[in-house]
Amino acid sequence: MTMRFDILTIFPNFFSGPLDHGVLSRAIATGTVQVATHNLRDFTHDRHRTVDDRPFGGGEGMVLKPQPIFDCVESLGSTGNIGHEENNNNNHNNHIDNKVTDSNRLITSIAPKPTRDLTRQSVILLSAQGKPFTQATAHRLATLDRVVLICGRYEGVDERVSELLADEELSIGDYVLSGGELAAAVVLDATVRLLPGVLGHTDSARYESFGVADVQPGDPEDGKTSDGVPRSTHGAGGILDYPHYTRPADFRGTPIPEVLAAGDHAAIRRWRRQMALAKTLRNRPDLLARAPLTPEDRAFLATLGYSSANCALK
Ligand code: ADE
Repeated sequence: MTMRFDILTIFPNFFSGPLDHGVLSRAIATGTVQVATHNLRDFTHDRHRTVDDRPFGGGEGMVLKPQPIFDCVESLGSTGNIGHEENNNNNHNNHIDNKVTDSNRLITSIAPKPTRDLTRQSVILLSAQGKPFTQATAHRLATLDRVVLICGRYEGVDERVSELLADEELSIGDYVLSGGELAAAVVLDATVRLLPGVLGHTDSARYESFGVADVQPGDPEDGKTSDGVPRSTHGAGGILDYPHYTRPADFRGTPIPEVLAAGDHAAIRRWRRQMALAKTLRNRPDLLARAPLTPEDRAFLATLGYSSANCALK
């Protein structure tokens, strides 16, 4: 099954960087995902291709008009019949060339908001006023067939886009970007890498920062990766990833931690868990309060001065 992203922007060429490299470009090449960019100026009706206007009530800056955004979303047909993308006059059609080659799959049109099936589609407005985009959001989006990303610009987007067209408004962090394009690229990347078959190793997305909790001791999977290799890692389970090392074993006089070279996988697992806890305490203590912690985790954190009783440093 191919997942489909449609990105609405006034800078379609912005996406040539993110889409042309690494995991994303591979996922596009293999047909796991299709990405089409749509230039909002192609949906204007005036000679100057105006996408913005002054705010009612006065104030700084310009506001993106609702009409080009509504028209563009309403033009998004089922794949194979996809609105303006074949004739949008940017140089970006390389990202959608592969979309019509897979005729086994039909990705449906974007339904009007009241009848939209949110288990299959989502129309998302990227804005600094949105709900926080998290790894959990990425996992949810990765289960959908089709996602529309609307990139905000200027001082804002007419609120009727959020009210009547978008299902959710997402922010990638507590800072203000000059537009939603970078945020859309972040959402795209974080979601696509979770799609089945995109990462080389099936466990890669699982055992990383914010990943699912580790299997329980005694589970059939415990101690082995899905391909049967003895596993020395811990599922992050809402905390940060543990530190990684590669060759050389001694770099500029700093050796790798001895435990990693000794071949005792249980010891490696224990050490990695402790290092992940220590790094989380140092960089993101807020995560510890919500993370599922074992009595051993709490005992280790106590040695670092963390008291789980009041969820703060002693
Ligand atoms: N547009 C401007 N700032 C943004 C943010 N933090 N997240 C998403 N879209 C944005």
